[in-house]
Amino acid sequence: MIRERAYPVDPWHIRETRLDLDLLAQSESVFALGNGHIGIRGNLDEGEPHGLPGTYLNSFYELRPLPYAEAGYGFPESGQTMINVTNAKLMRLLVDDEPFDVRYGELRSHERILDLRAGTLERTVEWVSPSGQAIRVRTVRLVSFTQRAVVAFLYEVEPLDASCRLILQSELVANEQLPPMSKDPRVAAVLDHPLQSEEILEQRAGGLMVHRTKASDLRMAAAMEHFVDAPGKHEITTEGHPDWLRTTVAAKVGPGQKLRVVKLAAYGWSGSRSLPALRDQVGAALASARLDGWEGLLEAQREYLDAFWDHSDVKIEGDPEVQQAVRFGLFHTLQAGARAEKRPIGSKGLSGPGYDGHTFWDAETFVLPALTYTQPAAAADVLRWRHSTLDLARERAQTLGLQGAAFPWRTIRGQECSAYWPAGTAGFHIGADIADAVRRYVQATGDYDFEREVGLELLVETARLWRSLGHHDRHGRFHIDGVTGPDEYTAVVDDNIYTNLMAQQNMFSAVEAAKRHPDLARQLNVDDEEMASWRDAAAAMHIPYDRELQVHQQSEGFTRLQEWDFENTPPEAYPLLLNYPYFDLYRKQVVKQADLVMAMYVRGDAFTPEEKQRNFAYYDARTVRDSSLSSCIQAVVAAEVGHLELAHDYLGEAALMDLHDLHQNSRDGVHVASLAGTWISLVAGLGGMRDFNGQLTFAPRLPSRINNLEFSLLWRGLRLRVSVTADEVTYSLRNGGGAARLVIHHHGKDVEVTQVKPVTVPIPPAGPVGPPPTQPAGRAPVRRAPQE
Ligand code: BGC
Repeated sequence: MIRERAYPVDPWHIRETRLDLDLLAQSESVFALGNGHIGIRGNLDEGEPHGLPGTYLNSFYELRPLPYAEAGYGFPESGQTMINVTNAKLMRLLVDDEPFDVRYGELRSHERILDLRAGTLERTVEWVSPSGQAIRVRTVRLVSFTQRAVVAFLYEVEPLDASCRLILQSELVANEQLPPMSKDPRVAAVLDHPLQSEEILEQRAGGLMVHRTKASDLRMAAAMEHFVDAPGKHEITTEGHPDWLRTTVAAKVGPGQKLRVVKLAAYGWSGSRSLPALRDQVGAALASARLDGWEGLLEAQREYLDAFWDHSDVKIEGDPEVQQAVRFGLFHTLQAGARAEKRPIGSKGLSGPGYDGHTFWDAETFVLPALTYTQPAAAADVLRWRHSTLDLARERAQTLGLQGAAFPWRTIRGQECSAYWPAGTAGFHIGADIADAVRRYVQATGDYDFEREVGLELLVETARLWRSLGHHDRHGRFHIDGVTGPDEYTAVVDDNIYTNLMAQQNMFSAVEAAKRHPDLARQLNVDDEEMASWRDAAAAMHIPYDRELQVHQQSEGFTRLQEWDFENTPPEAYPLLLNYPYFDLYRKQVVKQADLVMAMYVRGDAFTPEEKQRNFAYYDARTVRDSSLSSCIQAVVAAEVGHLELAHDYLGEAALMDLHDLHQNSRDGVHVASLAGTWISLVAGLGGMRDFNGQLTFAPRLPSRINNLEFSLLWRGLRLRVSVTADEVTYSLRNGGGAARLVIHHHGKDVEVTQVKPVTVPIPPAGPVGPPPTQPAGRAPVRRAPQE
């Protein structure tokens, strides 16, 4: 686990001031760079030592058989695993015949800086070789946001005391050896030699390699080219082999002189394009990178990020550690989705192999809210990708004996890849999560073309699924039985409240969208009768409630289950899924992650304030947060029910998930849902932002330590800035011209915001707040301020 202060607090940088080999794998995830299309882990340039080498291309995967001790009808037969593709990061250095390796000689200093405004990872090292030759190495790398296929590296070496021979071997390597797999189900399957060589081309200062996967039949190409700046005589050669291509630069360099090498690399992949077409594609990408050159790429990267921060930054005064972590989280969220372009966003983005690179509801429910209000085009693209998999989802529904579309719980290409049906197939709520993301996007942007293009069909097919999955009982109430909600410690249940409320909204949204586009609805065979059946089912949705305890039930019968013995559960027994059998977790009141609490956020319109208070107290005491998707949502609801200090604690936990490696598995990649969820905790939590029924509302209130919070949102093309202090809020519009106006709700009252003048309104005094909620023994979040 990364101890606090592994990275000193700094508002715009993540700095590592010394190399700790025990933390190498975690730091590779923290320092991963990506643009949604390409991802490279923060591996050391020389490749060794490493925690987990990793280079990924979004949706480039291999198939593997899913093992079942006992197979069953409808079990997915094959899984998809994101593979480690050709590595372009590798740059090995020899100093007078001795390999530069931090494990040998003397490492005088080692610093790495992830610069959130420059979009680069910079490394500076002073090293003395075993025979006493001292050098300084400075490297900088970037994955371009503006040129989607391009990765670039700068490598500079300077002898410090005496002249020496420097040999730099810069490579493209396919089929790297990977460390063996662990037993943790959250890590990835390791595939041996997934790539088969198809072509290799050597040129003087670079070259190109084309490979293909065996079973998934995907083809990828990687190309590189070097630009060398050496003080005197030097040599450049390139040699190749089916799985590696190496450009060697040899130079004699004196003290005070520098060998400087720029490496430009390009990637491309396709499931349908021919070898020559793909070869040309990466050749062209490289030509385009060459046109900008290293300096041009750096400049474009900064400009892109300047624009991003200008409209997406969240400023917090009073908790600098959280300020840094929030920006780190936003940066990784951007890296996961910026240029995904009709591809999924995996739960680790492209920062590591965890969960086999699969996308889950994490994308629609945690990442898309942040993107919808800051980078709407990226959010729309993810939903377009979902739409492109509709046929597979329809097929899956058919296999399951259902109508409409059953979207996969986890996947890369669209097929269900979960081999564990209680937390896979049964997680039907994914359909409603997609529908909710469609609803939110259309509402926030007013993009009705998108609704016609993909939105309506997604809403209709998911509504059809709910209508066929659920049933009316003899009293007319509608039930959805035998499903798993977000809480994976309570599986295959009847009437999971989150699922029911989301399905209800899904069906209502489908009716409304069908009414907006009657012609298109008819083409999708939606008639009045079908719409009426959705409306009836939604209106009659059963919402389980325990009258005696006066709390909602997470699912039917939940509150009568045996309590979990938290007092006798030692801290090392968490996460419980690795230490207790599922049968025991399933039959007790122990909650893995926000479920009913999640419902109270996304369907907050379905609960009264008193219900929210009581439910939150009841479920917070039983929620262990074994999933990283929990604390950000608990922060939102804690803030809404008035426990602002607790909200701050949960927000801190979500934000620091990877910088402090709180779940001890950041090595497999960063937790994108939690990082994007930090934005949710701030904007929806402390900012109290909600968007029910097309009405933008805010109810900001700050915890004691935070004295200022500022964020921006895009709403129907208008950029709204919200600036909160302890007792007042200023709303301003940053674009839209003189006539632009927006009516929002502020703590229940209408406020008109125009571009002419910002509006400042007071924060009303808080209502009565119940006693502070408690958490299971030993599971309270780290306190960020004095207790309530
Ligand atoms: C959580 C799921 C989540 C998945 C991927 C699981 O541990 O329970 O809700 O989708 O991880 O992040």
